[in-house]
Amino acid sequence: MLQIEKLTKRYPTGDLALNAVDLEIPKGQVIALIGPSGAGKSTLIRCLNRLVEPTSGKVTLKGQDITALGARGLRAARRKMGMIFQEYALVERLTVMENVLSGRLGYVGFWRSLFRKYPQSDVDEAFRLLDRVGLLAMADKRADELSGGQRQRVGIARALIQNPDLLLVDEPTASLDPKTSRQIMRLICELCEERELAAIINIHDVALAKMFVQRVIGLKLGELQFDGKPDELTADVLTTIYGEEDWEATIEKVDDEDLDEAVV
Ligand SMILES: Nc1ncnc2c1ncn2[C@@H]1O[C@H](COP(=O)(O)OP(=O)(O)OP(=O)(O)O)[C@@H](O)[C@H]1O
Ligand SMILES: [Mg+2]
Repeated sequence: MLQIEKLTKRYPTGDLALNAVDLEIPKGQVIALIGPSGAGKSTLIRCLNRLVEPTSGKVTLKGQDITALGARGLRAARRKMGMIFQEYALVERLTVMENVLSGRLGYVGFWRSLFRKYPQSDVDEAFRLLDRVGLLAMADKRADELSGGQRQRVGIARALIQNPDLLLVDEPTASLDPKTSRQIMRLICELCEERELAAIINIHDVALAKMFVQRVIGLKLGELQFDGKPDELTADVLTTIYGEEDWEATIEKVDDEDLDEAVV
């Protein structure tokens, strides 16, 4: 579904952020991307939709060479890649509903969107998604009135209304408390399963990643260090990726079952 071949990014400053990364992700697979600060995680995610222009290498999504696209083709391809950010990137003075609908901007023409004339089918879908992420009652609230967890749910609904093939998620839980973090990770992973959606989730919390995904990719200094199942992330592997530390607490199996399922 997604092929990444020899993807390399050297910033104008000279920093080699990605060094010939090869990666293949099948349809419906959710992967966690881990690695120390500066490893190139955000750069990798941003090179996929060319928010950051790769220096060399190739990205293919559903057979389409993303790296070869011109401006118009790239706009169309970006609709198929939903993004979820740590900082939510909501429009503060707009309502929850309007923020979700803004995910349709790539589809609805500029003038229609300016006058907020979204097709009824988009509005219906936005309601369905808000219901699914547990925010139906808040559709008319302004974004700046929401908690961090609620804001991230809006970000998730906004990414999904694009009807993407791939979700690119950059530290979705970095500003959230531990319980809300789990709820958000669970929600993202459940939605990917329901929609057979592939996702790359860039995440610092290794224990949290292990709880929810089937495949973990470890990046260090722009190179792939690990690609395997959560169980294979041993203390040795973590030391290779992050350096020497006591990893026992991180690799311990955490059971998610006794957690409160309530949606906050
Ligand atoms: N716009 C930029 N210009 C120059 N260098 C950059 C730029 N963005 C990132 N870098 C460099 O590229 C490398 C990878 O950065 P990147 O932000 O991708 O890492 P990261 O793994 O996402 O880190 P973090 O976990 O802190 O978010 C770093 O050395 C960083 O300094
Ligand atoms: Mg980053």
